[in-house]
Amino acid sequence: MDQYLLFVRLTTKMRGYSSKLLCLANLAIVGLFYCVISSLVYFEPQSPLCQFTSTLGNETVNEEPLAEKPIVLLWFWPFGVRFDFQICSSYFNIDGCILTDDRSLYSQAEGVIIFHKEINWHLENLPKEPRPYFQKWIWFHVESPRNTVKTPGLENLFNLTLNYRRDADITVRNEVTIKQTETKEEVVLPKKDKLVCWVVSNTDPATGTSVRETYYAELSQHIKVDVFGAFTGQRLKDEDYYSTLASCKFYLSFENSLHVDYITEKVNGPLVAGTVPVVMGPPRENYEQFLPNGSFIHVNDFPDAKGLAEFLQRLDKDHEAYMNYFEWRKYYEVTAHLLSMSNEFIHPVCLACDHISKYKEYHVVNDLYGWYFHDIYSENII
Ligand SMILES: *[C@@H]1O[C@H](CO)[C@@H](O)[C@H](O)[C@H]1NC(C)=O
Ligand SMILES: *[C@@H]1O[C@H](CO)[C@@H](O)[C@H](O)[C@H]1NC(C)=O
Ligand SMILES: *[C@@H]1O[C@H](CO)[C@@H](O)[C@H](O)[C@H]1NC(C)=O
Repeated sequence: MDQYLLFVRLTTKMRGYSSKLLCLANLAIVGLFYCVISSLVYFEPQSPLCQFTSTLGNETVNEEPLAEKPIVLLWFWPFGVRFDFQICSSYFNIDGCILTDDRSLYSQAEGVIIFHKEINWHLENLPKEPRPYFQKWIWFHVESPRNTVKTPGLENLFNLTLNYRRDADITVRNEVTIKQTETKEEVVLPKKDKLVCWVVSNTDPATGTSVRETYYAELSQHIKVDVFGAFTGQRLKDEDYYSTLASCKFYLSFENSLHVDYITEKVNGPLVAGTVPVVMGPPRENYEQFLPNGSFIHVNDFPDAKGLAEFLQRLDKDHEAYMNYFEWRKYYEVTAHLLSMSNEFIHPVCLACDHISKYKEYHVVNDLYGWYFHDIYSENII
């Protein structure tokens, strides 16, 4: 890592020279001189500088140096948890920028990713203005408006938004994608030994969870629900998450608060595992903008929890009707989301890297909160 950054710094510094070639030629001459002297004096032909210059000499002909990629600086590690930037290329196939957390590269960074929750009330921990003319500040936030602190002073500060909303500048979601070729075979599901499951850890009413808890309390009187998570003492390990979901016929994908586009990994999980998500969140029309119709069941389709319970019990006995909920798998596919805390935040960071490497437009966010808190579905705007 250190070596890598050193190389980045060295090569970015070279940008300043009027002629890159001149610089390289200089280096080569100095290097050669050093090699000759050192081999005369120390009989040490393999000194590192000799290797460095010879490698440079070889590569300049065909390849652009690494520093031609823009630098994107992650200003805060979300919640102080570090992750490996290499995951962008290895998992998401994104390699268009140089990601770093080295604040000494600030003045060269084309993008600065700023995690909303780490910004302090008086903004003292933000980068110092003025920012370089080419630099974009990226507002990185993936909580719903209900769980967003309106820190004052951010309204007209950013250039790009990075959020789950489709109208964000950089949208981060687990998208359903179109298969290259449709699958002809019948869908085969994993073995199921549970009817309805729910994994829930956040039960803090301040985050808006009371709606789903009330609904669950009612539902569980009419149908058996297997509950996992901190809530119950049966905490699921990351490595058991997908297999546990797969063993259930239905899964309660209940969001903690109801907002436009706030449809999270709680839906992606069961879709990946081969389980039917029963969703609670924004209205059905909003889900239909992201998920194939017939891949999920919406609680609003029923007058009450009892009606939903009866429907699920009917589907449990009607294999053909149940299997219809998996027809979409012939044409579309979903991608497993990464589970650990450290990986949860890498995907947005990679997308920001990708965006900065591709789009060079001047861009300003005016009235950040006016945009974010304008939410047509929300009942509890703060
Ligand atoms: C130098 O270039 C040759 C031919 O392109 C290549 O085979 C070789 O691996 C390169 N060496 C280094 C150190 O990059
Ligand atoms: C999707 O399915 C629901 C319930 O089966 C139905 O009411 C709705 O009209 C369908 N929407 C579209 C766009 O086909
Ligand atoms: C970024 O946003 C700031 C604040 O609105 C603005 O002053 C600056 O010119 C913008 N820069 C770019 C490159 O878009």
